[in-house]
Amino acid sequence: MKKLIHTYGDPVLREKARPVEKVDEAIRALIRDMLETMRAERGVGLAAEQVGEAVAVCIIEVPLEMDRDEQGLLFNPGVTMPMAFINPRLVSASRETETADEGCLSFPDIYAPIQRPVEVTVDYLDLQGQPQTRTFRKFIARAIQHEMDHLAGVLLVDRMSAMKKITLSGQIKRLKRQTREQLAGQAAP
Ligand code: NI
Repeated sequence: MKKLIHTYGDPVLREKARPVEKVDEAIRALIRDMLETMRAERGVGLAAEQVGEAVAVCIIEVPLEMDRDEQGLLFNPGVTMPMAFINPRLVSASRETETADEGCLSFPDIYAPIQRPVEVTVDYLDLQGQPQTRTFRKFIARAIQHEMDHLAGVLLVDRMSAMKKITLSGQIKRLKRQTREQLAGQAAP
């Protein structure tokens, strides 16, 4: 079932996700809903908080054409999409960083250059509850880092440069106000 995307200004986005204790049918159902929601919104990643659930689950679905170098070779051969990460934890990150534009479904129409490590190793549980450790590079590594930030309550607005934040301050304030108005509307009898 497609869910509502929670936007900036909604307090759930600032929560720290609680770990999943058991990978059961309820978690898999949440992940299916998240996938449906992300696809409907044309996103490449989604964290559970963005559908209002502060649990440590995130998904990515990066088109493989975004994972190719100039020669057309995959940066992450063998990776299949979509991927679900339950209780993901950063094991290590490269010292080398890269800056690229990022967006977020919780910040519609807002994009900002964000600097991140080029390569990360992550451990997590898969859909069967099996522990996995994998290394990701380039855009896929960026997408995972963005989603893991969500699980810690860290948002695009916290990662952008001070200068960019000033440039976007009008748009960001407007979004926050709209979100707050919506929430107030929902709470009214
Ligand atoms: Ni996001």
